[in-house]
Amino acid sequence: MDSANDSATFWEKHYAGTDARWGTRPNVVLTDLLADLAPAPGTALDLGCGHGGDALWLAAQGWEVTAVDVSRTALDRVDAGAAATGVTDRVRTERHDLAATFPDGTYTLVAATYFHTPLTIPRDQVLRRAAAAVAPGGLLTVIEHASVAPWSWEAGKDVRFPTPDGVIASLELTGDWHVERGEAPQRTATGPGGRTATVTDNVIAVRRIR
Ligand SMILES: C[S@@+](CC[C@H](N)C(=O)[O-])C[C@H]1O[C@@H](n2cnc3c(N)ncnc32)[C@H](O)[C@@H]1O
Repeated sequence: MDSANDSATFWEKHYAGTDARWGTRPNVVLTDLLADLAPAPGTALDLGCGHGGDALWLAAQGWEVTAVDVSRTALDRVDAGAAATGVTDRVRTERHDLAATFPDGTYTLVAATYFHTPLTIPRDQVLRRAAAAVAPGGLLTVIEHASVAPWSWEAGKDVRFPTPDGVIASLELTGDWHVERGEAPQRTATGPGGRTATVTDNVIAVRRIR
């Protein structure tokens, strides 16, 4: 693969130029979902964890978290955040290019939160693998962009987003699942320089019954 289309190269460069404080707070859509759907901590897999806002919050709530990213820099910052907040015993970081390898095991929560990249990767396949990693009784959450913010790398492009039902269909869930959420709410997002815009997210939560 040429370096211009290599996930590790792209995201290392991204994080090298990103303030380490960015993305260290949890996503409120995820925290609200879990308050309703998974109030008791268990084991969590955070796919594309970035600087670990969600992973560190989950660990602080008592979850045993495996935080995965393709960027070593991002994962080093998650490790540093875990040390600073006293949750190293509940946060394990693993570097994977999820297009190629995937963590072992099953989890009571598998979260893919804004698992987006400008590179071409088999994202649907990764999310199907994510569903396969959900333990009986556990949840898969997918929170993703369903509109283009003006500051996005996709601004100006004619991007078509799937509906929540389309995302759920693409997971090709096999076995016994319950759709807990399949919504496309709007929110006010804040971008670089404090600029704000109304954006839409797909918010998906599916539970493996057994
Ligand atoms: C848009 S960021 C979202 C980060 C974080 N989940 C959040 O909500 O702030 C996408 C993340 O996915 C990671 N990522 C992109 N492609 C990846 C791949 N092929 N394998 C593993 N992680 C990847 C990036 O390094 C980045 O941290």
